[in-house]
Amino acid sequence: MDFFNFKGNSLFAEDVEITSLAKEYGTPLYVYSKATLERHLNAFESSFNGKKHLVCFAVKACSNLAILNLMAKLGAGFDVVSEGELRRVIAAGGDPHKVVFSGVGKTYSEIEYALSVGINCLNIESEEEIETVVAAARKLGVVANVALRVNPGVDAKTHPYISTGLKNNKFGITEENAFDLYVKMSKIDCLNISGIDCHIGSQMTSGMPIIEATDKIVALYNKLLSAGIKVDHIDMGGGLGVTYDNETPPTPSEYIAPILERLKSLDVALYLEPGRAMVANASVLLAKVVYQKNNGDKHFVITDTGMNDMIRPALYGSWMTIINSTIHEDIPEVVSDVVGPICESDDFLGKERKLKVKNGDILVVRGAGAYGSSMASTYNSRRLPCEVLVDKDKSYVIKKRQTFEDIWKDECIIK
Ligand code: LLP
Repeated sequence: MDFFNFKGNSLFAEDVEITSLAKEYGTPLYVYSKATLERHLNAFESSFNGKKHLVCFAVKACSNLAILNLMAKLGAGFDVVSEGELRRVIAAGGDPHKVVFSGVGKTYSEIEYALSVGINCLNIESEEEIETVVAAARKLGVVANVALRVNPGVDAKTHPYISTGLKNNKFGITEENAFDLYVKMSKIDCLNISGIDCHIGSQMTSGMPIIEATDKIVALYNKLLSAGIKVDHIDMGGGLGVTYDNETPPTPSEYIAPILERLKSLDVALYLEPGRAMVANASVLLAKVVYQKNNGDKHFVITDTGMNDMIRPALYGSWMTIINSTIHEDIPEVVSDVVGPICESDDFLGKERKLKVKNGDILVVRGAGAYGSSMASTYNSRRLPCEVLVDKDKSYVIKKRQTFEDIWKDECIIK
């Protein structure tokens, strides 16, 4: 559930009219609802039934400092995949002791930085990375908390680009190798074996793959315990899907309950790394209709918002729901492709949508909060979109619209 609802013929974000936000801040505009963010984090936090846990918000889904700050104030931890994300969390007031660090290509300096700020756990993804962690820990004279990211060979049944738990994906260490590597790590004095980690994919709309993965991780936990290696947490990653169209994913509590069931007799904390389920429906992207035209059979609604502002439809062929923020009763519905101004034919927000649109209308791309602004670019030298957070009847700028000079400020002309 979110807090973007119609009052009469006009869409509101909490108590603020969408068209008034577009007028005040311009478009393209990401609009976040604070109440929705709080509701989603609470939905996770209240689903653990007393089990020790850490909800690590996946920063890559939405990395705006204000959003991270809100999450940190509500007690969340974070999942990061780069030094930049870790520095963002710290800049936003997050606690590095509640941060886990995943990623197949962590460099020595990233690992050293993470250890120097007291990261909760490094999720190691290859045998060679172990050596890098050891070198950094020795240099700093610290003991590194580590987990192996295990690739359990489970099909998340999602888009191939966001499926990560199969043997042909680059992520993690195979089940077969994990046990031996844990034994190897247990003999190294500067490593503390803290957990077992796993993330099998994103936008999972059925609970079955995560249950299959949990069973495999629990089997590894038990095998390690028999070998005298005791971990203190199991991290089942992110991946819970959301409704973009007519998907019916489990709720956080429905998703977490069977994992808890399998962990109930184990003396471990459960970590999760949700990104999308936390933020997707907490934001909408506003696009203003600039022109309309017919090319043969097709009707195009041309907006000022393109694939650089929201790349998901172009990159994954993702369906994003598009509605008009104003309901018109006096014009006919037209089947339209909603496109942007970018010079690429895959620059679309949605295809073949039934819409009643007048020029100047503010269209609303729903479910835009996850992998929306965090994947935006300045392609075609377009400025990154402005972002606002709505809290009841107030709105706050949480990212200023760039100036044109911002776009090229780091470029240098050779004298
Ligand atoms: N943990 C790890 C290690 C991950 O790689 C990811 C996402 C997550 C957690 C969070 O997954 P979530 O709860 O958001 O599903 N750009 C794509 C999604 C890429 C996901 C990458 N990894 C999209 O727009 O659909």
